[in-house]
Amino acid sequence: MATDISTPQYRANIYSTEAILDPYPHYAELRALGPVVWLARHRVFAVSRYAECKSVLLDDETFISGDGVGLNPVANKLGQGTTLNSDGDEHTLKRSVLAHRLTPKAVRKMTSAIEEKAESIVENALRKQWVDGVDDLATALPMSIVPDLVGWPEDGRDDLLRWAGATFDALGPINRHAVGATKAAAEMLAFSKRVVRERSVLPGSMGEDVLIAADENKIDKSQCPALMIDYLAPSLDTTIGAISGALNLFAQHPDQWQAVRENPDLIPNAVNEVVRFESPIRAFSRRATRDTDVGGSMIPAGGRVLVVYASANRDPREWHDPDSFDITRDAARQLGFGSGTHGCAGQGLARLETQTILRILARRVARIEPAGSAERAINNVIHRYERLPLKLVAAGKALS
Ligand code: HEM
Repeated sequence: MATDISTPQYRANIYSTEAILDPYPHYAELRALGPVVWLARHRVFAVSRYAECKSVLLDDETFISGDGVGLNPVANKLGQGTTLNSDGDEHTLKRSVLAHRLTPKAVRKMTSAIEEKAESIVENALRKQWVDGVDDLATALPMSIVPDLVGWPEDGRDDLLRWAGATFDALGPINRHAVGATKAAAEMLAFSKRVVRERSVLPGSMGEDVLIAADENKIDKSQCPALMIDYLAPSLDTTIGAISGALNLFAQHPDQWQAVRENPDLIPNAVNEVVRFESPIRAFSRRATRDTDVGGSMIPAGGRVLVVYASANRDPREWHDPDSFDITRDAARQLGFGSGTHGCAGQGLARLETQTILRILARRVARIEPAGSAERAINNVIHRYERLPLKLVAAGKALS
């Protein structure tokens, strides 16, 4: 790919294990270099400032997803057929098959079921007192909700977390993480093909909607396996990232936990601030269909463009003191759920899950204290904790 001579270059590997563990210094360098930076190592144009990230996401005719949103051709091929990897009318059609399940009204109907699950998860955690914020709280909630919603058969659940994480990991550049993950992502697709062949989805589930759409010739049957995975794979690690990120941030900022306990109305914005600060999905890519000027830099037709949501969410041009966590800032415009036509289809559910568990914890837990060293997951796309030892200090008398 010929690059415009004026486009600054960045030679470091932003997908090394070290960079995955702490990408923010790299993002700061990218933002300082310019609105568009050529990542020589990955052969991709990085867009890392807020304004340009947003404009690329909103221009889905120029910057398409149909050639994949990952950084290697194998994963981009494996992802074919998903809502995430489609454009125009095809994207609208695919989104219409399932998105009605996650409208604000549909999500509201899930409120009491989510509250009930979250209550029992918090109850169990409080009994233990010393918990792993990832396993005991952050993973337990989405795992108790989404597989049933999607109708994923019981015999495919043991591998689900590994498969779903691998589906993201495989989307990185060809490095050792992506190569290792591709096999597991392919296993998930093979399992999904079997589910479609055997029609073994749970009755009344989103998976059944996909099969019915194919029966009614709204979509081609060959697209069903990808669509089954479409809502399952992105719903676990991301929400785990948001909930575990929130727990860690509140453990580090007891004053803000106290504020939330005193005024739970702060929780919806706190979730936006957590997603801004943590950005569970660091970056996805697009393919440019024509030569385009982005912030004064030329991106040539055919170029792959990396939209770094996590960097946009820490851009000092957009945010005052972006590296500080502050639940009182207006964080609603954060890009952690993407923006525009591919904006997260499951964000209503993700917000409800995260808000619900925080609300119940705020009622019952006076303090969340760090209780050991936290470990980050190593994944090319996902930013989340793998292990988060915490001590939950129960409130003497539950706040109402
Ligand atoms: C905190 C949790 C979550 C985060 C941070 C998140 C983030 C994102 C982002 C950044 C995108 C945009 C992709 C792009 O620009 O190409 C996206 C799309 C998507 N998300 Fe989420 N997500 C979360 C939870 C969920 C959940 C719970 C579900 C399903 C139940 C879900 C389903 C989807 C789907 C289907 C798309 C593709 C939409 C399309 O291409 O039209 N996500 N998500």
